[in-house]
Amino acid sequence: MTRTPFIAGNWKMNTARSGAVELAKAVAKGAPKGVSLGVAPPFVYLDAVGQAIASPSLLLGAQDVYFEKNGAFTGEISVEMLKDLGVKFVLAGHSERRHVLGEASALVARKVQAIYAGGLTLVHCVGEKIEQRDAGQTFDVVKRQLEELTSAMQDPQRLVIAYEPVWAIGTGRNATDAQAQEVHAFVRQHLAKSWNKDFADRVRIQYGGSMKPENARGLLSQPDIDGGLIGGASLKADAFLAIAAAAL
Ligand code: PGA
Repeated sequence: MTRTPFIAGNWKMNTARSGAVELAKAVAKGAPKGVSLGVAPPFVYLDAVGQAIASPSLLLGAQDVYFEKNGAFTGEISVEMLKDLGVKFVLAGHSERRHVLGEASALVARKVQAIYAGGLTLVHCVGEKIEQRDAGQTFDVVKRQLEELTSAMQDPQRLVIAYEPVWAIGTGRNATDAQAQEVHAFVRQHLAKSWNKDFADRVRIQYGGSMKPENARGLLSQPDIDGGLIGGASLKADAFLAIAAAAL
């Protein structure tokens, strides 16, 4: 089964308007063929970045969304609003939203459903904290998070799982190739059980957590690692493109 690797940059709460546009342009210009490449800028720069890239070689993504269609939800953004700006993929369940902003699993599940039902590609983030890994709970935690998905999601092209061990995010300490592969294989087995093997074989599973040019090739050459969700290293076009090249 060949899956087109998907390398996505999660810019988090970084960049300013002009820097965001420049970064996106540089990434679009250097985008290699054979890899799906995407960037998720802060909400306020989505429009500017979307207009600057306007190219199918780079997908526009959002870091978050609210599940309601419209109404009195001060500060929130809907799926339709994102689509209006050309957004193609949306993150849900990122560990910073779960653990810094306090998003509960029930909220993540509603977001996950809204993103998929709205026709966008869902990047569903899962991953354990260090104390959970040390207590041998990694698979349990990841399985519980995967249960935020529903069987209504039948298009494997629009479902991406990002395995991001919390202890590896922004710490410079990436999971080893074997640690990551072990959890990726577990995720794929879970999908095969909950959907079927063909579906599971088509879903892309990204690794995230201190992925950088120096460790990308080892991680991306694992059989069940189909791309990366990149934070820090996505803020420099050269580093991000080097990771993309390592996926080929
Ligand atoms: P990092 O972030 O690459 O800076 O560790 C990854 C992520 O949070 O998606």
